Amino acid sequence: MLATLRSAAVFGVEAYAVHVEVDVSLGFPSFTMVGLPDTTVRESRDRVRAAIRNSGLEFPPHRITVNLAPADVRKAGSSFDLPIALGLLAGSGRVLRRTVDDTAILGELSLDGGINAIRGVLPIAVATRQAGVRRLLLPPQNALEASIVEGLEVCPARSLGEAIDALNAPDAAPLFVRPVGVETSEPAAGDGDLADVRGQLLPRRALEIAAAGGHNLLLVGPPGGGKTMMARRLPGILPPLSFEEALECTAIHSVAGTLTNGSGLLTTRPFRAPHHTISNVALVGGGPIPRPGEISLAHNGVLFLDEMPEFHRRVLEVLRQPLEDGRVTIARAARSAIFPARFVLVAAMNPCPCGYDGDERRACHCTPGQIERYRGRLSGPLRDRIDLVAEVPAVPVTVLADAPPGESSASVRGRVLDARARQRCRYRDLDVRTNAGLRGSATGRLCRPTLEGRRLLHVAADRMKLTARGYDRVLKVARTVADLGASENIEVDHVAEALQFRLLE
Ligand SMILES: Nc1ncnc2c1ncn2[C@@H]1O[C@H](COP(=O)(O)OP(=O)(O)OP(=O)(O)O)[C@@H](O)[C@H]1O
Ligand SMILES: [Mg+2]
Repeated sequence: MLATLRSAAVFGVEAYAVHVEVDVSLGFPSFTMVGLPDTTVRESRDRVRAAIRNSGLEFPPHRITVNLAPADVRKAGSSFDLPIALGLLAGSGRVLRRTVDDTAILGELSLDGGINAIRGVLPIAVATRQAGVRRLLLPPQNALEASIVEGLEVCPARSLGEAIDALNAPDAAPLFVRPVGVETSEPAAGDGDLADVRGQLLPRRALEIAAAGGHNLLLVGPPGGGKTMMARRLPGILPPLSFEEALECTAIHSVAGTLTNGSGLLTTRPFRAPHHTISNVALVGGGPIPRPGEISLAHNGVLFLDEMPEFHRRVLEVLRQPLEDGRVTIARAARSAIFPARFVLVAAMNPCPCGYDGDERRACHCTPGQIERYRGRLSGPLRDRIDLVAEVPAVPVTVLADAPPGESSASVRGRVLDARARQRCRYRDLDVRTNAGLRGSATGRLCRPTLEGRRLLHVAADRMKLTARGYDRVLKVARTVADLGASENIEVDHVAEALQFRLLE
């Protein structure tokens, strides 16, 4: 008796169809799995056996062979439990259909026959719809996520028993109805409002420019200056996620298993702040079956590296390629996975190891050698990828107490939205979303300052010894400053403001 059921798995953020073939034949009782299952898949034998028995059904005392096709791709995870169990029960006649091709089946079984949530449902739902399959049978916790995809019947099953019924009587199976109004496109509340930050006009402006043009930002200052505080308020001034961006983010978080149970579409921009002890793989992604790292989880959002020089140098260097390409490719012998990773990088650091270099409140005791070594932990190429460097001086407590509250996030966000609208209009025919995303010759073509602006830029480039990349970065930042000022021309003032964010070099 042979049963063939349809399931799916993800590689990177792409899903592919997997056919689960279960053969139950007479012979010495055994349970074999073929088709490159890894250990997590092979463990499913024990779960399936217990789940079937504990659901009050008979586990067929025969020779069982399970094949997961295509056989040349390594399979991982527990989502094949349910199709394997149903295939077995089709072999013994409890499930009435032996070939199920109109329904893709996913789910992890628990020993009592219940069905647990799995990862990567959104990309699977998208691929299932594209393959022309009508229905998805899955754990109820994943139903909301799958229902984002239109034109797909989502059939949740809480237990093995319910899944059997759904296959035996497909027309009577209850379908999931997406509740209206689950999408809200409100901005991330973030941590607090920019109004809490008193003074600090220059770094506040840097934050606004970073949000408007998608520029990477480095905040440098003594302890307690408010660097961490300001960086955490960046998501609050970013524009809301578009539907397309939300889909991209949700797919990544779905594969990583970081979608909170049952949540559907991700509606707030991600803000990721990994600790400085993070490993290479955790930051950029990897593993035998590639999983997204922090930079991909921050896709379309913010990656915040607090105390940047404390990160291992090798960890920082792996950021270089993704920062340039907006994605990361993880090569494996059989095939490579590509994870999107377009994010705004915000980094914070002290000016020296003790932290008080240039601070009026306290003397710095670091030697020039120590300072140089400390700053050298950020390599030139990495620094070159940061558009804005802003100094965050310490504000004396007495001044802090008397200063009026700063401008609110909502008001800053208004200007950011206008600037983004101008960019969308300018780049409508290009695969570019923000000024920071401009590459190669497009930068020179689309960011051309006025004659006076160009003159200033040339003088400054000479004095500051800007690299070619650094020069382009000033152009892009000047473009954003002009967009914030609702100006189509890049005037000399805009260039001057852009230049002051490279002064610390
Ligand atoms: N400009 C400011 N306006 C209001 N509060 C401030 C300001 N600067 C600092 N603070 C207060 O000081 C606290 C410490 O700031 P924060 O942790 O952001 O400093 P930091 O620059 O990250 O320091 P470190 O280098 O030690 O990490 C904040 O939580 C906030 O309460
Ligand atoms: Mg800090």
